Amino acid sequence: ASNKKLLVLPGDGIGPEVMRQVRRVVDWMDKRRHVSFDLQEGLCGGAAIDAHGTPLTDETMADALQVDAVLFGSVGGPKWDDLPFEQKPERGLLRLRKEMDLFANLRPAMVFPAMADASSLKRELVEGLDIMILRELTGGVYFGEPRGVETLADGTKRAVDTQVYTTPEIERVARVAFELARKRGGKVHSVEKANVMHTGVLWRQTVTKLHEAEGQGIELHHMYADNCAMQLVRYPKQFDVIVTDNLFGDMLSDCAAMLTGSLGMLPSASLGAEDPTTGRRMALYEPVHGSAPDIAGKDIANPLAELLSFAMLLRYSFDMQEDADMVETAITNVLNAGFRTADIYAPGTAKVSTTVMGDTLLRELDKLAA
Ligand code: NAD
Ligand code: IPM
Ligand code: MN
Repeated sequence: ASNKKLLVLPGDGIGPEVMRQVRRVVDWMDKRRHVSFDLQEGLCGGAAIDAHGTPLTDETMADALQVDAVLFGSVGGPKWDDLPFEQKPERGLLRLRKEMDLFANLRPAMVFPAMADASSLKRELVEGLDIMILRELTGGVYFGEPRGVETLADGTKRAVDTQVYTTPEIERVARVAFELARKRGGKVHSVEKANVMHTGVLWRQTVTKLHEAEGQGIELHHMYADNCAMQLVRYPKQFDVIVTDNLFGDMLSDCAAMLTGSLGMLPSASLGAEDPTTGRRMALYEPVHGSAPDIAGKDIANPLAELLSFAMLLRYSFDMQEDADMVETAITNVLNAGFRTADIYAPGTAKVSTTVMGDTLLRELDKLAA
């Protein structure tokens, strides 16, 4: 048995379709590079609701806590949209993030050379773009109390969500931002709305203080979230690392996805704190996109975000830099050769299915390994 324990949760909609292509790469690595994983597959989201009546069973949660890394697909869909809040597919993913304490969500937006014309922005604005959005993932309005809906005496309904952040929560994610920036372009934009939110004020003060203590050599900028959304589409190359809260990070990363050509191109890594004795980090890898019900079951989804998430898994959880490079290079070559799923298709390129994208990638890997 391998000492690399992996839990694979394909989820719903296009999740299983894009995950199938990763499984082919995993098999390829076993055969061609003699790298094997101790891989187990589980259910999450609507698939788990249908089988077990809950979006994540306690058994699957326990498995996630003891493996080296979780690879996640996507969850949700119209079939389960009307379920009570706590039973929705999305709760399965939120529970994983919370109980694994995955506070640091790295969402890199990189423009592949062949894709500079696929963005909705002009080529010169995105060519060579490489930004890292660091999204706080276990706090903020996603988890703050109180939350819920109540019906008042006069029949009016009242819904509440609460944005909460504490200094340690802000410090630990800001520290990751400085660490990332140190290995990249040395620049951090901290994004909040300190002009209207108490959490924004605390966020700005805490990041500023940490920067004074630990941010030597890092250029720190503060920016309001609304302006950041605008700046991302005006002149994205001004950014290196963006660190922001859970909700702003969710929205800004979907926005950044379009800079790269498609939401189907954006991977992510969700990391916990490093265990001081083992050096181990809890980790879950997932594409930024969802279950895409509008295209599910048609074999047309772009599998590259899931494949790039797997490359991040190799890099961050197993320090397999060479293998990660190989997967990313193979993807670069496939795109250079003009293969495109429907979401990134342009005249003059070859439109292929999810499966054929996988076939092409395996051929590229064969060439690289030869
Ligand atoms: P979505 O990301 O699923 O889809 C948005 C649009 O992008 C759709 O038009 C879709 O076809 C397209 N798209 C997404 N991924 C693609 C890919 N790999 N290839 C080609 N096109 C792709 O977001 P949505 O439609 O707002 O949400 C659908 C469901 O997914 C909801 O239930 C939502 O809660 C869930 N969701 C889950 C996750 C997750 O599991 N991490 C993330 C976002 C949304
Ligand atoms: C994401 C998704 C999730 C989020 C949902 C599915 C819970 O949109 O991962 O970006 O809002 O965090
Ligand atoms: Mn999202």
